[in-house]
Amino acid sequence: MTANELRTMYVNFFKERGHKEIASASLLPENDPTVLFTTAGMHPLVPYLLGEKHPSGNRLTDVQKCVRTEDIDEVGDDTHCTFFEMLGNWSLGDYFKQESISMSFEFLTKYLNIPIERLAVTVFEGDELVPADVEAEEIWKSFGLTSEQIYRYGREDNWWGPAGQTGPCGPDTEIFYDMGKPKCGPKCGPSCHCGKYVEIWNNVFMQFNKEADGSFTELKQKNVDTGMGLERVLTIFNGKTNVYDTELFIPVMQKLESILEREGKELSEREKRIICEHIRTVTFILGDPMQISPSNTEQGYILRRLIRRIIRLLKKVDINTNYLCELSEVIIEQYKTTYPELGENRGFILEQLQKEYTLFSKTLDDGLKKANRYLDNIENTGVLSGELAFKLYDTYGFPIEFTSELALERGFMVDADGFNKRFKEHQDKSRQGAAGKFAGGLADNNEQTARLHTATHLLNGALRKVLGNEVFQRGSNITSERLRFDFSFGRKVTKEELEQVEAIVNEAIGQKIDVILEEMTLEKAYEEGAIGVFSGKYGEIVKVYTVPGYSKEICGGPHAKNTEELVSFKILKEEASSAGVRRIKAVIGTK
Ligand code: SER
Repeated sequence: MTANELRTMYVNFFKERGHKEIASASLLPENDPTVLFTTAGMHPLVPYLLGEKHPSGNRLTDVQKCVRTEDIDEVGDDTHCTFFEMLGNWSLGDYFKQESISMSFEFLTKYLNIPIERLAVTVFEGDELVPADVEAEEIWKSFGLTSEQIYRYGREDNWWGPAGQTGPCGPDTEIFYDMGKPKCGPKCGPSCHCGKYVEIWNNVFMQFNKEADGSFTELKQKNVDTGMGLERVLTIFNGKTNVYDTELFIPVMQKLESILEREGKELSEREKRIICEHIRTVTFILGDPMQISPSNTEQGYILRRLIRRIIRLLKKVDINTNYLCELSEVIIEQYKTTYPELGENRGFILEQLQKEYTLFSKTLDDGLKKANRYLDNIENTGVLSGELAFKLYDTYGFPIEFTSELALERGFMVDADGFNKRFKEHQDKSRQGAAGKFAGGLADNNEQTARLHTATHLLNGALRKVLGNEVFQRGSNITSERLRFDFSFGRKVTKEELEQVEAIVNEAIGQKIDVILEEMTLEKAYEEGAIGVFSGKYGEIVKVYTVPGYSKEICGGPHAKNTEELVSFKILKEEASSAGVRRIKAVIGTK
């Protein structure tokens, strides 16, 4: 089975069962300050999971491109990827456990032809707050799974959400494929990492709302949110043991091997896998319509680290030519029919890879010089301190293995414990940062976010009025305090222009205009002059929010009902975001 056959088979299966297909959203979540990338199919659907009406109805299905960087250390094993496609289906207050499990079971056993004895599932074991999910367990049994195939786990394994501190969440039932290896020990089960069990699907039953006091109340709208990993299913269905042996990675792996042969160099299997996996992720991030570039913050920083990791692995074996573009082009060619944005943004992808290569080659050489200087000074002890090793990591992006290798070449050691201690402190700090980001997150998908969201539309409209139609949204981020809006524009916006923009938005607020919500086909929305980055499918119904005279955008919402709810609008800052992109931070008045 090809990847495309799997995508089509999945989506058609759910379409035949009353679901509407929706388009894959951007990899960069808009108006969601909680995460850097879209990490699951449910992400773009959060407002609808919280009760807003979806224009396509209450049964949805799609294939969503996702990036998850928390698995980065696992990359190179058989199954973990930083980029992956998630096949998903949703019930927004429609069917629940019985129908969801029934459809999953049918798809797995009748369409993917997985023998029932190869399945293992997990269900929530219950705790002091929520009882065990006996219902899900009984449903699985009714389809013929034995007690040995059903595992009960706690909150860590079998509970999903909420995405913020409060919000919809619930127990899930995860579906695993048993690779057929013997158990690694008496405790071996789906939560074990020995490779016997591979998770392929997760069905989340969102039946609770986590309240601010930590308690769980039953949701009025009970949703189902499922996600299946395309790469893993393709691997299993085709009888392979790892994702690199599927059509998704074979072409790029062949290209890499031909480069190594040409250069007369060798890399380990794991290193080759990392390069192939990372080049696919960076191609998709750079190819996203939001066009972000490598930088030192947020998504740009993740992109930078992934690119640099590839460069470093190649430089390690003394390959000093830039092969990033050659590798990336294989991915573009392979995926551009399914994801046309890769073809459309080919020029941008290759240009950014070239720039980052040039920049890092310089840093890398500087880093090597610095590392050699450090090593010159440790003749006495023969041990490079954790502090200096961390400095090389922090300043030049040298991982500990890289530094250790350099040291070893001169017969020295690195204080790895000292490095790890600092590394952990650094990680804890960034985690706290991420948690802070999270805290203000989806939980705030409330009135304040809606008001700022409307302000963002008015700002976009006003910028186009003052600066012209070359202004296009490049990114948007909302926290409970402020909005941040990135847009294409070639120079600094003058003080006078900013004042005009501010005045237009405040004028719209002063006029107390109703925000109109309409549903129409994507084609009609564009015909009517609506703007919005949206890679929809032909005929797809979209929501269009209009503030007559000021703004008309395709958007999922939610928004304020009337512009007066914004009270007032003030621009705090205008600055460069990246080449050709400006960034504005602004606030609105308190109600
Ligand atoms: N949101 C769930 C997950 O990410 C199901 O898609 O696993």
